[in-house]
Amino acid sequence: MVYLTRVEHFNAAHKLWNPDWSEEKNKETFGKCANENWHGHNYEIHVTVKGEMQPDTGFIFNAKRLSVIINEHICDKIDHKNLNIDVEFMKGQFTTAENLTVNIWKQLQPVLKAEGVDLHCVKLMETPRIFVEYYG
Ligand code: NI
Repeated sequence: MVYLTRVEHFNAAHKLWNPDWSEEKNKETFGKCANENWHGHNYEIHVTVKGEMQPDTGFIFNAKRLSVIINEHICDKIDHKNLNIDVEFMKGQFTTAENLTVNIWKQLQPVLKAEGVDLHCVKLMETPRIFVEYYG
């Protein structure tokens, strides 16, 4: 089995806030991510597919095509957007890196399957020091 990863980038705004909690508890739990008037992150998304090399190309999947799919189904919908307000697949959910990663998987997995390749991992870097991985 061979693994291929494509890295893409987007910027987005969000706020982490539990409406059932006091302002104090929100700020204590979510820190700067609880800022009332939003804030942004420079996200990096690593999408890994797996498969066997095709005899006619030596590819397991075309990396350029993988980029087009990620951009069309993810980046075009969330880049320069507010994750809490603008993004249909994040509606009603905490806009944590964890939830965002799982929802990106849910968006991409059927598309990649239809193109004949298996999604292995979605890794989302929220900051250079914080990232989430999801394997389905
Ligand atoms: Ni944040």
